[in-house]
Amino acid sequence: MPELQRLRADHAPALLAFERENRAWFARTISDRGDAYFADFPARHQALLTYQDEGTDHFHVLVADDATTILGRFNLLDITDGQAELGFRMAESATGRGLATEAAQAVCHLAATDYALTSLRAQANLDNLASHAVLTRVGFTVTGETVLRNGRAGRRYVKELKGGATGTAGATGL
Ligand SMILES: CC(C)(COP(=O)(O)OP(=O)(O)OC[C@H]1O[C@@H](n2cnc3c(N)ncnc32)[C@H](O)[C@@H]1OP(=O)(O)O)[C@@H](O)C(=O)NCCC(=O)NCCS
Repeated sequence: MPELQRLRADHAPALLAFERENRAWFARTISDRGDAYFADFPARHQALLTYQDEGTDHFHVLVADDATTILGRFNLLDITDGQAELGFRMAESATGRGLATEAAQAVCHLAATDYALTSLRAQANLDNLASHAVLTRVGFTVTGETVLRNGRAGRRYVKELKGGATGTAGATGL
C-alpha cells in the first residue's frame, strides 16, 4: 500500500528521479519547471525543508510499496492565517488507480488535524479533467475562474476544514 510521507532530506534522489521521468507528462497540463530546477535540485530541496521547518509549507510524497519510488507529490503551500494552497502531481505510471484522490483526502485530513488549518485553496486548468475530478471528490467547491501562471484559463476551488483527531504527519498509509 503506498504511503504518504512528510518530505525529508533523504527523499531527494527519488524525488529528482520522479521529476525527471515525468517532466514531459507534467508539461502536458502544468507549467514546466525549467532546466534550472533540475540543475539546482539539491539546494532547492534543502530550501523546501527549511520552509517546512518554518511552517510556511508542508510537503508530502506518496511512496510506493518498494519504500523508495515516489509516485506523487501533495503539497500545502503558502500558509497564511490558517489557509493554504493544495498542489499535487502524480507519476504518469501511477495514474488512473484512484491514488491521487486517496492521497489528496489524506493531506486534507492532515491539514485539518496536525496542521490545524481552516481552509484550503486549489486551482487547475479548465481542461484538466482529472484534477477537477480529484478536487471535487475530496470536497472542494468551485469559487470562480482565473488565469493561471501558465497563462491558461483555470478554475479556482476552496475547501473549508473542520478540526478533528490528530493524524500522523510522518507517514500515512492510504
Ligand atoms: C491530476 C492527477 C493528479 C490525477 O491523478 P490520478 O491518480 O489519475 O487521479 P485519480 O485516479 O484519483 O482520479 C482521477 C479521476 O479523473 C478521471 N479522469 C482522468 N482523466 C480524465 C479525462 N480526460 N476526462 C475525464 N475524467 C478523467 C479518472 O477517470 C478518475 O475518475 P474515476 O476514478 O471516476 O474514473 C494526475 O493526472 C496528474 O498528476 N496529472 C499531471 C499534473 C497535474 O495535472 N496536477 C494537478 C494540477 S491542478
